[in-house]
Amino acid sequence: MATLIRFTHQMGATMAVIKSDDRNSWEIDYAQRVNPELMTRLLHQAVPVLKWTNWRITRVGPGMCESTLPLAVETTNQHGTHQAALISLSADYTGGMALTTLLTGTPLTGIHRGSPDESASLWLVGMDVKYENPSTSHLRGVSRVDPKTAQRIRTRYFAGQVVLATISVEFWSESGERVAVAVMRYFAQATKRLLEHRVGGDLSPMTKLNLKTSARIIAGLRSMTDHSTSTTITTSDGKRLRLDQSHDKVAAGTHGLLQAQRLQKVLPQLAAMVGARTRHCDQFLKSIGGIEQLVLLGAGLDMRPLRCVDQLLGSTVFELDLPVMLAERQHVIDLLEAECGGALRAPERYQIAVDFLQDDVGQRLRDHFAFSDTAVTLVIYEGCSMYFDEDQNRRLLTSIRQRLKHPASRLWMDCVTPAVISEGTSDPNIHEFVNQMELIGEKFVYGPADPEAFLRSCGFVCASNVSAQEFLGSIDPTLGEYRFVVGGRDVVELGER
Ligand SMILES: C[S@@+](CC[C@H](N)C(=O)[O-])C[C@H]1O[C@@H](n2cnc3c(N)ncnc32)[C@H](O)[C@@H]1O
Repeated sequence: MATLIRFTHQMGATMAVIKSDDRNSWEIDYAQRVNPELMTRLLHQAVPVLKWTNWRITRVGPGMCESTLPLAVETTNQHGTHQAALISLSADYTGGMALTTLLTGTPLTGIHRGSPDESASLWLVGMDVKYENPSTSHLRGVSRVDPKTAQRIRTRYFAGQVVLATISVEFWSESGERVAVAVMRYFAQATKRLLEHRVGGDLSPMTKLNLKTSARIIAGLRSMTDHSTSTTITTSDGKRLRLDQSHDKVAAGTHGLLQAQRLQKVLPQLAAMVGARTRHCDQFLKSIGGIEQLVLLGAGLDMRPLRCVDQLLGSTVFELDLPVMLAERQHVIDLLEAECGGALRAPERYQIAVDFLQDDVGQRLRDHFAFSDTAVTLVIYEGCSMYFDEDQNRRLLTSIRQRLKHPASRLWMDCVTPAVISEGTSDPNIHEFVNQMELIGEKFVYGPADPEAFLRSCGFVCASNVSAQEFLGSIDPTLGEYRFVVGGRDVVELGER
């Protein structure tokens, strides 16, 4: 079992070294970040099986953690002893917590709230547990990192380096008998350093998984929406296939479906919001006569090129995303293709691997042999604007705007209101949803106060601006916090190259 716990830490803006916050004394760190009550509560929220077993942290100190695994109906086997796997589970979190205490001032994302930009990641990469005696009482787990190892962990982590730490956890019965001893091996590094290799780099399987999470959740949510309006895709031999829940389910996988269900419980309007955006954008695409190019910015697992194939046959689709996501996207499309015997009807598609945070995306498009500035182009920027700050969004869209030279070319994007970011809406479920997104490393950071002014600042004229509430004709104000906007070319040209 591999467990992901991620840490957040302030990083110097310009330096590679992760700076330790010297103002954080142990007392402050204990009170704000790692005390047993707080960590037990947060870990119960993040890892429901810990709550189910009533596992608790009872004591922490610098480089030390003590925990209890109660002997209870939920945790015993047929012999009335602890289930061995639960002892391993306890070892995972007891050792991980001992390691956590060493990263002074560093909140855990996935556990504490924190910006993904500042986060660090930690997960278990291996374990060796020796079960020495039957566990017939409440079980105390104790992990102490020796001072030399603790110093090495701190030095490497705060230098931005990979940490591979071997940490022992001993388990004791109430009568003082040693029940088990576990040797745990953890990986830890600042998330920002891990993500530096997003494009072209060698990513760990856990980092790859994290990068795919948001797109899988969206596919999972799409699979929950009302598909009475769902379309069909047609194979070249005339076979009709419904592009409906089952296809979105393929894209989401078990992981995406589960995460989507979890979030839907937090914000019951979520699937309706995703359904509304899908429908609004599909309708807009279909309303454009003579579309020649479709650009999907952050394409994820959006199957629109297949769903809207009738409108897009003869056009060229450019799918832009991080390489790991594009590989996943192609894998899903290959599965769909196999489902219809290799006869899937689709427009001409090209994938372009980009990192919005590093690349000049408009330039990347311009450099692509199949792209034309002067073709009628629809750019879809769906489910992305909230994850980037205002400047990052503007830099991306301004660069894209330069590549839209046909007067009929358009940008479609969705955005949240600033109240969603500042927790100022009247619906506490929205804030809990945003909180949950942050915990999985998908922090919402931006919602334009005036979407039309924002579009103008990127060189677009706003052609349409509607909320999900208005679009669905709903009275639910929560849906009013989510908007769909369309930008056209400004009459004033922006120094185009
Ligand atoms: C919430 S998903 C939306 C996917 C798709 N547009 C949809 O609506 O189903 C956000 C997408 O942005 C992509 N993304 C995140 N950070 C990125 C970056 N720095 N550069 C390029 N794409 C990025 C993700 O890989 C993911 O596919």
